[in-house]
Amino acid sequence: TWTMGNVLDDQVALIRAQVGDAQVICGLSGGVDSAVAAALVHRAVGDQLTCVFVDHGLLRAGEAEQVEQDYVAATGIKLKVVDAEERFLTALAGVTDPEQKRKIIGREFIRVFEVAAREIAASGDVRFLVQGTLYPDVVESGGGTGTANIKSHHNVGGLPDDLQFALVEPLRTLFKDEVRALGAALDLPEAMVWRHPFPGPGLAIRIIGEVTRDRLDVLRAADLIAREELTAAGLDRDVWQFPVVLLADVRSVGVQGDGRTYGHPVVLRPVSSEDAMTADWSRLPYDLLAKISTRITNEVPEVNRVVLDVTSKPPGTIEWE
Ligand code: XMP
Repeated sequence: TWTMGNVLDDQVALIRAQVGDAQVICGLSGGVDSAVAAALVHRAVGDQLTCVFVDHGLLRAGEAEQVEQDYVAATGIKLKVVDAEERFLTALAGVTDPEQKRKIIGREFIRVFEVAAREIAASGDVRFLVQGTLYPDVVESGGGTGTANIKSHHNVGGLPDDLQFALVEPLRTLFKDEVRALGAALDLPEAMVWRHPFPGPGLAIRIIGEVTRDRLDVLRAADLIAREELTAAGLDRDVWQFPVVLLADVRSVGVQGDGRTYGHPVVLRPVSSEDAMTADWSRLPYDLLAKISTRITNEVPEVNRVVLDVTSKPPGTIEWE
């Protein structure tokens, strides 16, 4: 019979057989897929695995710490952290086009990852790269759905020829809910196992307009409030994802106390979905939406308006860019 325990044991055996005595590297994105894939490989080959976490400065509040502290504490995985915020923000300066943002982030990610991989490879026989590819990713990139580029920046197939690795993809046959069950079986922190999906390009594609550090800070503050209130309402698991989007080039007039404001709107984009291929906007309770709106406009001075996205996918996508 099929149980998570079997999947775990089978995968551990398969990984050991594939990897042997070689060294393995894995890029951690902060997301559940790479976290579970790495934990599984670590269970199989222990310290033969080294993880690399490229902090591109486009993460949400607390996410880098979650990887650098909580995940490492829970797993004992060897982790190399690269702080690349400056580099990414410099590369993104002046860029507003969504595809351009993705390309730049993908390119910089590969460059930074390559340097880290070379450093690790210099100290041992590194022959394998772990990827948290799921079954829907396999279908998506082979199925001609026009979305093959979606995970492109995690696909480090763009590495130079003298730095090629064989892939270890232990989640290739699994769906997201199975990956979460596996993460729980591996004793990963609950907050990580149940983390909502988050795009590789991070908050850069949730700022409509140029990405700057100030704008990132504004979006991080608003996003944190939305996440805190969703969690407080006990609704994390009812929602697939809850992007908050900053319309950085839009301003509208508001009033606060005696003063007129001229601030930016944020869009709340909570969605329900099984696999992100289609989605519906989540019918969150009005009281929760009210609480989020009040807190954001009270606590984030740059934001004076909160709007709700009520578009399904299709025709909308989950992300705004
Ligand atoms: P869309 O916006 O196309 O998103 O409905 C579908 C799912 O994919 C995520 N997404 C990305 N993930 N790199 C990623 O790793 C990307 O460039 C990217 N774009 C979208 C999105 O968050 C949703 O879960």
